Amino acid sequence: MSDDLRARLRAIPPFPAELPSFEPGATPESPGVLFVDWFEQAASAGVLAAQAGVLATNDETGPSARVLTLKDVDIATDAWEVATPADSRPGSAMTTTPRAALTFFWPALGRQVRIEGRVVRASTEESAADFLARPASARAVSLVGRPTPTLTDDAAYEGALAASSQRVIADPTLVPESWALWRIVADSVEFWQASHGRAHTRLRYRRADGDWARERLWP
Ligand SMILES: Cc1cc2nc3c(=O)[nH]c(=O)nc-3n(C[C@H](O)[C@H](O)[C@H](O)COP(=O)(O)O)c2cc1C
Repeated sequence: MSDDLRARLRAIPPFPAELPSFEPGATPESPGVLFVDWFEQAASAGVLAAQAGVLATNDETGPSARVLTLKDVDIATDAWEVATPADSRPGSAMTTTPRAALTFFWPALGRQVRIEGRVVRASTEESAADFLARPASARAVSLVGRPTPTLTDDAAYEGALAASSQRVIADPTLVPESWALWRIVADSVEFWQASHGRAHTRLRYRRADGDWARERLWP
């Protein structure tokens, strides 16, 4: 690595000068409620893609991670919902190893939320409803098959996309069999608030005997 790059990596500030405060003693009993509050604050602060989190999974080939869109948070069960095809890498990993971690980072507020839990695949009806709520253009893209493991020809993709756009127009209720909604039922959720003095405030909710325990963590 060049000295220039090392210096640049050190120089870029991760957070703005002003950071919100976080009082762990004044938090709700369940992490879902606090998450929605923090998410609303992040969206209002103009954080781009505040609804996008990094989903980490594991399977026999090892760990992998990617950005997915948060679809909903079920406050009653403290479950975070994401959607991805069952035959994608995250989908097949969540099928064989139904545990996952989902991490959100909202730099404008110096906040990170880390969710870990077991994965439950939603019903066919719920997955179909999620798919049909997407815009037609997104549904057309998702309906393009992948005849080869890698893309070797842009024209082949464009042709397949045109064909699947026609299918969506002909049948607006079309849902790919593989489309799936997944719930990450949290057993641990950590809220992390940066502080410029590096005395970051960390609060972890841990499911214990059907209830939530709240614990402070060292910065
Ligand atoms: C902001 C953002 C949101 C995304 N949302 C989704 C999503 O909700 N579902 C999904 O399958 N892929 C989503 N992706 C694409 C995934 O990160 C990933 O590229 C895709 O799942 C293909 O991964 P795979 O080849 O391992 O199956 C999103 C990417 C970004 C950058």
